[in-house]
Amino acid sequence: MMISYKIIDYLKGKIKLLDNAFDPKDLEILARHSFDNIQWMDIEDIWDLYDISVLKYAIRRRIQKEPISQIIGLKKFWNSNFYINETVLDPRPETELIVEKVLELPGTNLSLIDLGTGSGCLAISIALERPNFNIFASDISSDALKIAEINSKHHKTHITFIKSDWFSKINKSFDVIISNPPYISESEYSRLPIAIRRFEPKIALTAGFKGLDCFKKIITEFHNYLKPNGIILMEIGYSHKRKIEELFISSGYKSIKFFNDLSGKARVVCVKKDAI
Ligand SMILES: C[S@@+](CC[C@H](N)C(=O)[O-])C[C@H]1O[C@@H](n2cnc3c(N)ncnc32)[C@H](O)[C@@H]1O
Repeated sequence: MMISYKIIDYLKGKIKLLDNAFDPKDLEILARHSFDNIQWMDIEDIWDLYDISVLKYAIRRRIQKEPISQIIGLKKFWNSNFYINETVLDPRPETELIVEKVLELPGTNLSLIDLGTGSGCLAISIALERPNFNIFASDISSDALKIAEINSKHHKTHITFIKSDWFSKINKSFDVIISNPPYISESEYSRLPIAIRRFEPKIALTAGFKGLDCFKKIITEFHNYLKPNGIILMEIGYSHKRKIEELFISSGYKSIKFFNDLSGKARVVCVKKDAI
């Protein structure tokens, strides 16, 4: 819901912290988050009825470059909002391509595991779209799993969560494996914006010297955890297509398919268990 420009201008005039560089859209989101029903209020009521320090605290955090989603504790992904904090990756819009591709699969009773579930955004979005799927989600981080469980409970989805270092504690096989594993190299990480390095967990982002360690681990083992005709879908980095193809080929796979994002870059790899 929109807040009128009048209110935004009023807040700008009142709050000394705000300079012209502060994005009015951010101010609108933070104001809406800080004051319930702000859109129906008279300007003077905002000042009189509410403790403006809540908004000022949110603005201070934003000035320190904290992502809006962490300040308000929410991020939209696919069709839902997800609770997030500093222990999980902020769900990214490009990851929705995995949801899109899973929804194109034939079959309404498939079993699926989301490896490295983080906030649970992938597993939960799919569970909401496909209530008859039997869905599992894993992560190595207990903190991330707590957030994913909160989100699953909030959205009333039935997902089995497992704490596992990739496949180490997985003891069944699935029709579909999905994952958005960490894939940033150490040198890329050092060049990421401070907002990401300071506020998002490194374990969700980096994967060794070349950014390929998690892919190597998953690609070597996934075969044992897929049912006959099963498939794996994984998000990959912008520049990874050739390297990922080589990793699958060196594990004996012949048919490796890539799906592009809207800018035409290969961002999801898809391989069938029997493509060997
Ligand atoms: C890029 S984040 C993806 C999170 C979420 N699926 C998403 O798309 O927003 C990668 C996730 O993998 C998890 N992870 C990192 N190393 C792992 C490991 N060895 N085993 C299982 N999960 C791991 C991280 O904790 C993080 O939640």
